Amino acid sequence: MNGASIGVGLLGLGTIGSGVVKLLRENNSQIEQRLGRRVEIKKILERDPEKLAALKLSSEMLAKNFDEILNDPAIQIVIELLGGIEPSRTYIREALLKGKHVVTANKDVISAHGKELFEAAAEGKADLYFEASVGGGIPVLHALKENLIANKIQEVIGIVNGTTNYILTRMHDEHVEFEQVLQEAQRAGYAEADPSSDIEGFDAARKIAILASIAFNTRVTPDDVFVEGITRITPEDINYARELGYVIKLLAIAKDLNGEIEVRVHPAFLPKEHPLSAVQGVFNAVYVYGNAVGETMFYGQGAGQMPTASAVVGDLMEIVRNLETNSTGRFPCTCYLEKEILPIGQIQTKYYLRLIVKDKPGVLASIAGVMGNHQVGLASVIQKRTLVVNEERMAEIVLITHEVLEQDIRDALAVLRGLSIVGSIENVIRVEEGAKS
Ligand code: HSE
Repeated sequence: MNGASIGVGLLGLGTIGSGVVKLLRENNSQIEQRLGRRVEIKKILERDPEKLAALKLSSEMLAKNFDEILNDPAIQIVIELLGGIEPSRTYIREALLKGKHVVTANKDVISAHGKELFEAAAEGKADLYFEASVGGGIPVLHALKENLIANKIQEVIGIVNGTTNYILTRMHDEHVEFEQVLQEAQRAGYAEADPSSDIEGFDAARKIAILASIAFNTRVTPDDVFVEGITRITPEDINYARELGYVIKLLAIAKDLNGEIEVRVHPAFLPKEHPLSAVQGVFNAVYVYGNAVGETMFYGQGAGQMPTASAVVGDLMEIVRNLETNSTGRFPCTCYLEKEILPIGQIQTKYYLRLIVKDKPGVLASIAGVMGNHQVGLASVIQKRTLVVNEERMAEIVLITHEVLEQDIRDALAVLRGLSIVGSIENVIRVEEGAKS
């Protein structure tokens, strides 16, 4: 064993922080062997002293405030696990400026304020690692930054939210309504009491902003991401998807189209043969297409105490190795380009449309005519069901378009909404063909 131990200050002893303490204990001898150094948590910033007691940690480790950690020369690495923007953003910046290396699992801060934090890291000659901020224990950020660095990354598509993947999986398996599954998931603890950030897609937006920034070497923040959640998906849509050979997933999509990029989160029809279609329940996966490597996929648990602790402690150990070899700063900010982000109206994809229309001759021809006037070609039309709405016979029709400009389909739908033959537009879902596969 070489020299003195490496001192760590831990901010937050919640679920993940406790997992980090447990992992450092459980794999202690292997970690020391692999590093040739001992890693020691010296101080913990935590409001609830009971949490230290529960882990049999001495109350002397409790820091009175952040400055106690910031100004402790025996602490070289700060692990931030408080979550949320403030005070995490300030603490991370101050630690980096002071030359302390930082490991964080905080996707909110990294996605929105990555630029200023990397600038602080450069100024303080310190490292900032954040593998746990996307996909919990799945080692995808390091893969993009290191192992795949020789590639031009063309596409990153993630299932990066376990709550929504769990809900959609159950809707596929059990033909149940969204609201019912959500309530059951909340009772079982799979969904938060306030699930809006998950079901509206904002959690996934933060993660794809981080993934796209790394993959395409350009700064993407959550405000740049088009976001649509899964609350309008119905068992009818899922049945049609199945019949047409697709599954519906909440996808976080980033594409580099010769220097212009698309970044979006929305539910999508995905061919059932696509590798991401097999990702079930709370599991996450990130599919990456690089021009040299072709298809790759990273799969695992996207949240949870020990999977996330795995990523945090992995980052911690990498920093210790960097310290040993004096190689801090190997992976600084990678956003050195400024690529244009396409507005959603400018993307091109296929669409699934489900409409309730009057059940009488000529209706389909009129709809196809409106579509044609807006350069929207139809690849297939299904009519299966008739129903009575306000004493009038109506038909449910499902259309799959060819690949078209989103603005064109929006314009066509605006015209359709004004036609007396159209009762309602029940749903519009993008189709992700996975063209690279
Ligand atoms: N709420 C997230 C999910 C986990 O459901 O995947 C934390 O990022």
